[in-house]
Amino acid sequence: GENKGKSVPTRDLILTDEQIEGVRRSGVVNTGVLDEVARQIHPGMNTQEIDDICMQYCKDHNAIPACLNYEGFPKSVCTSINEVVCHGIPKESDVLEEGDIVNVDFTTIVDGYYADASRMFIIGEKTTPEKEQLVRVAKECLEIGMEAAKPYGFVGDIGHAIKKHCKKYHYGIVTDLCGHGVGLKFHEEPEVLHDAYRGTGMLLVPGMVFTIEPMINMGSPKVFIDADDEYGWEVITEDELPSAQWEHTLVMTEHGVEILSY
Ligand code: MF3
Ligand code: CO
Ligand code: CO
Repeated sequence: GENKGKSVPTRDLILTDEQIEGVRRSGVVNTGVLDEVARQIHPGMNTQEIDDICMQYCKDHNAIPACLNYEGFPKSVCTSINEVVCHGIPKESDVLEEGDIVNVDFTTIVDGYYADASRMFIIGEKTTPEKEQLVRVAKECLEIGMEAAKPYGFVGDIGHAIKKHCKKYHYGIVTDLCGHGVGLKFHEEPEVLHDAYRGTGMLLVPGMVFTIEPMINMGSPKVFIDADDEYGWEVITEDELPSAQWEHTLVMTEHGVEILSY
């Protein structure tokens, strides 16, 4: 019969219990990094200081920052402010201001196991109602995507659910970047599209470890690489309206996904 873009995971994408425990341990440190950032982030701080916090935390916990030197990325963490969608590079000249919305995305390697997560931070007491809603809805998109991820369902079910939620707000879902298998490598199959059709993509089997990390734009879903970034990493919205993203590392079980990194 027809294939409709379905696929099945190869054996190496289904982790053993021992491997899952390894990713879980990495996830504990990864969550710790972001908790430490949460404790220290404040207006007037620059994003290089966030990088310093992450580096120190890794040293203290025998973890390696996966982003550092990854395909030429020069820092240990991604710090993406307002219209920066993702892969923002920490720098002393980027000072956080009251009302900014910032994504901090960190990936740890512990005993060779990768855990990848990101959160949004609202800087200072408050931001605009529009940005606050964007941050909230982006988080709901991750949660709704997690609920849609069922054992023996398909990866496309995730993006279908996210799209349905996002439509209510007329937000743009970024399609140039996606979630991914993770755990034994940084980026692995399957590609987890955040805008997809139900019943498409890879079969979800217990033992698969992957991220969901929707990037939600207030305006157009179009993005481009910032011409000012000498490294060619920073992704910004075409209309320069803000963008928000949340990410967890997840393991599929017989009962649905379990979060390995917050
Ligand atoms: N952590 C990002 C992700 O969610 C990847 C960052 S790669 C870097 O997949 F090189 F920009 F750090
Ligand atoms: Co990430
Ligand atoms: Co990721």
